[in-house]
Amino acid sequence: MRLPRPKLIQLDQIRSDSGTITVAESGKDFDFSVARVYLIHSTSADSTRGRHAHKELEQLLIAAVGSFRVHVEFGGRSLSFRLESPDVGLLLPPMAWRTIDQFSEDAVCLVLASDVYREEDYIRSYSEYSSGQ
Ligand code: TYD
Repeated sequence: MRLPRPKLIQLDQIRSDSGTITVAESGKDFDFSVARVYLIHSTSADSTRGRHAHKELEQLLIAAVGSFRVHVEFGGRSLSFRLESPDVGLLLPPMAWRTIDQFSEDAVCLVLASDVYREEDYIRSYSEYSSGQ
């Protein structure tokens, strides 16, 4: 089976004079079922988050408010994304080493995750991660 790769996806928007709805749908925009939703917020410009990979967890990251950078290492390649619009999501497959930084003052990162929180799914040591690549 082909491993999914980190990629940006365009989300549908329903616009009206009274505002916009942005939709991320399991089975259409991404393949996993959502088991957990969380927000990363109250960060500062010099916050750095992530610095880990997941063995099995898949995630969709969305800049619900503001912007931030996601640096991803995957399959021996480095990719850098700036998320800055709520209608764009970044899909992160298992075994993607991610670092999230360069947060705008108001940034809110919405995360849709394929599983509940399980610390045993994390790889927090970069040397352990890179030796498995
Ligand atoms: P972590 O996933 O490393 O956060 P980030 O990727 O945003 O830097 O989690 C930070 C801490 O929060 C860590 O001690 C685990 C804990 N945590 C939970 O208890 N539940 C959760 O759902 C998440 C995402 C983290």
